[in-house]
Amino acid sequence: MPSQTHARRAFLRSAGQAAIAWSALSYSRILGANDKINMGLIGAGERGRGVMGNFLKTGDTNLVAACDVYAEMIDRAQKMAPGAKGFKDHRQLLEEKGIDAVLIATPDHWHSTVAIDALNAGKDVYVEKPLTLRMEEGPLIVKAARVNNRVCQVGLQQRSGAHYIEAKKKYIDEGVLGKISLVRTWWHGNGYHLRKAPPSLATLPSNLDWARFLGPVKWRDWDPQQFWNWRAYLDFGGGQVTDLMTHWIDVVHMFMGTDSPTSGVAAGGVYCYKDGRTAPDTINVLLEYGNEFTATFEATLAPGIRGEGIEFCGTKGKLYIDRRRYEYTSAERGAKPVEVMGPNYDFTLDHVKNFLECCKTRQRPNCDVYTGHRSAMASHLGNISYVQKRRLNFDPLREEILPL
Ligand SMILES: NC(=O)c1ccc[n+]([C@@H]2O[C@H](COP(=O)([O-])OP(=O)(O)OC[C@H]3O[C@@H](n4cnc5c(N)ncnc54)[C@H](O)[C@@H]3O)[C@@H](O)[C@H]2O)c1
Repeated sequence: MPSQTHARRAFLRSAGQAAIAWSALSYSRILGANDKINMGLIGAGERGRGVMGNFLKTGDTNLVAACDVYAEMIDRAQKMAPGAKGFKDHRQLLEEKGIDAVLIATPDHWHSTVAIDALNAGKDVYVEKPLTLRMEEGPLIVKAARVNNRVCQVGLQQRSGAHYIEAKKKYIDEGVLGKISLVRTWWHGNGYHLRKAPPSLATLPSNLDWARFLGPVKWRDWDPQQFWNWRAYLDFGGGQVTDLMTHWIDVVHMFMGTDSPTSGVAAGGVYCYKDGRTAPDTINVLLEYGNEFTATFEATLAPGIRGEGIEFCGTKGKLYIDRRRYEYTSAERGAKPVEVMGPNYDFTLDHVKNFLECCKTRQRPNCDVYTGHRSAMASHLGNISYVQKRRLNFDPLREEILPL
């Protein structure tokens, strides 16, 4: 029999959870099949406005509010929906009871705070990848989604991509590749990491709240490059590893039916762009998945090399896939590659539609928050190894790096 203290603790825990859930649900509307979903946009930069364009394209949503620390971006969002209210502080946007769901597209260092606040406010959440800046943030976001019974889709849109789903079914699920022992991934020359701040940002604009941009990150004076090209600084993002590898490693997890490596090691550095960046411009990551297979990621911003893709290597053949097409080559001598072009489409739109459908059916979306957390976690293992310059063994169940 549980002790009184135990029983009391359990009661307080469940009462607390019920209270959180109740306060959240009391703000949430039950959506009918024909209801339009009222959306708030938090982080109205390039991606935020791009994905919001997809939301509006569905015809199933209204953009009713936009939040950004830089008012210029709110102005741009309001061009998409002139009636939308503007906010600088996401907490004020979340107080709007008419908002059903939010799209979070801030830089990565704000994802967890904003997502947890939104879920606790009873909003369904579409949050851009990588879900987290730090490994330990993940379980807290998953818990906020579950306790509040909210839908939380992570922006790893390949999960909704028809040609990914098709290739997996045809070649992986049917065992055509045989035993897969190696997955190679790469993403070179991604221009997002080379953004140059425009001259208009040389001095801090009066309509940009730099302190609020920094938020949880330690203070530094205004630096236009850190604001504009935040991906290149490990305080705000995780460089190419969390930005790009997270996409590909999520496809690896989807295809291989797994969700966590058991060890990781990485090496790289700032070799080409001595512009003050702290994220490497060239990186190699090697992840081990138990006794089953290894997965590698390589990326450089060196101007001489471009392109991105994934290659699954099996005993009976190999499968290449990228955002446009896939190609199967049998291991038999002289076999010709079989190429299949994906439809000419933006599968982010399908990911958005899947989210909206789940807001109504209350089903788990294609890239549920837990899946997004586990894929970000694999990337973090790479970055931690890069920073600590050592191989890390990992316990996927406890989500802990094992002592040496
Ligand atoms: N799924 C994909 O394929 C994909 C593609 C591109 C970007 N992304 C993700 O989208 C996110 C945004 O990337 P981006 O390229 O649009 O960056 P961006 O710098 O263009 O936009 C980010 C915006 O967030 C604002 N912001 C910063 N802190 C804020 C806060 N506390 N509250 C409100 N707004 C705040 C900034 O002022 C800026 O306007 C990143 O997490 C990135 O990884 C995903």
